[in-house]
Amino acid sequence: MMPTIDLSWVRDQFPGLHHQQNGNSVAFFDGPAGSQVPRSVADAVSRYLLETNSQHGGVFEVSRESDAILERGHQALADFLGARDPGCIAFGANMTTLTFAVSRAIARTWQPGDEVIVTRLDHEGNVSPWVLAARDAGAVIKRVEVNLEDGTLDQQSFLDALSPRTKLVAVGLASNITGTINPVRSMIRAAHDVGALTYVDAVHFAPHGLVDVMDLETDFLVCSAYKFFGPHLGVLYGKRSHLEELQPYKLRVATNDLPGKWMTGTACHEGIAGALACVDYLAALGRRLGSPVESRRGAIESAMGAIQQYEQQLARRMLTGLAALPEFQLWGIRDLHRLDERVPTFSITHPRHSPQEMAAHLATVGCYAWAGNHYALSFSEAAGLEPNGTLRIGLLHYNSADEVDRVLAELSRLA
Ligand SMILES: Cc1ncc(COP(=O)(O)O)c(C=O)c1O
Repeated sequence: MMPTIDLSWVRDQFPGLHHQQNGNSVAFFDGPAGSQVPRSVADAVSRYLLETNSQHGGVFEVSRESDAILERGHQALADFLGARDPGCIAFGANMTTLTFAVSRAIARTWQPGDEVIVTRLDHEGNVSPWVLAARDAGAVIKRVEVNLEDGTLDQQSFLDALSPRTKLVAVGLASNITGTINPVRSMIRAAHDVGALTYVDAVHFAPHGLVDVMDLETDFLVCSAYKFFGPHLGVLYGKRSHLEELQPYKLRVATNDLPGKWMTGTACHEGIAGALACVDYLAALGRRLGSPVESRRGAIESAMGAIQQYEQQLARRMLTGLAALPEFQLWGIRDLHRLDERVPTFSITHPRHSPQEMAAHLATVGCYAWAGNHYALSFSEAAGLEPNGTLRIGLLHYNSADEVDRVLAELSRLA
């Protein structure tokens, strides 16, 4: 049996979790919007600024030290994503900014009439950049439909959308509104079969399970460190051949080498130092479960396996509790036998209380959740949930069973 995570050790690492409101502890269910960070991440950001703050490429000692940290940051994120080559990892302001840059570069290769596939389950960050780039290139956008009853992607509609003219498929690894884990591996295979590139949004999935770009064989993948216990920073992986061949919009003085070619202007060095520390936090969590000599990637694999197992226990508790509150409609997979098809992100609506009212009520009792469409606009539209969207209760591995019971009790009071 897989060893389970030591929740009290985990919670000790996150000072933000000990926040009090009116003398009571608060419970953070806003992980899908952004996670809390371990103390080691904040320390790494602070240490970078206080001890090694410098610009890239100087001939003096502090700049060299700073560059060494940046290099370790690329290696850490390569380990986190399962990439063998740290040169294939670029950092940017956030996922959205990176996606605009990549979409603009890829769209330079499109011809009028070429086709691009996006989905109705994705966050706008993986939709709008492609729609706008397609418009500029005269390419056609096709959309994968959703099954509203369980919040999954309609695979037949995906297969129907594919054609020899498909140039790119943009899809999320997990939905930030329904929590669905999409069958991205098989979608990538099908996309490659028609010669299309794939762009995977792993922002929502990354804190919940192991990302493996080699196994996925995706051409590109993006995530955001602030969702997996790091600072506000976006991360791009691309296959080396694509990153070398494609031409991003860039200054003529800027490097053509990887990964700098894809990192416009001066990077957020302190953020990269923090991202390195958040990967090391996950590795430390993994090492507590497994062999102390494991490689960092091995330790991350252990950590993510244990996180997934623990989060499924929380998801079971949440779904069981919600089943006993039938006034609430859950948008996503409810079936306890399908827990490996979802992450513990729960979107609910109520016939009398708007998501905004429910979030405001929960906030007064120290339960921090989010209301709205969460930028998963196409799903919210397809489900007829606009303009209010859903109340989203998101769990991460630092949440406890008591916190799940606490939010369920508050929902029960509301109902
Ligand atoms: C699934 C998903 N994709 C993309 C984004 C956008 O990420 P960023 O804020 O890094 O641009 C988010 C942010 O909430 C998200 O949840």
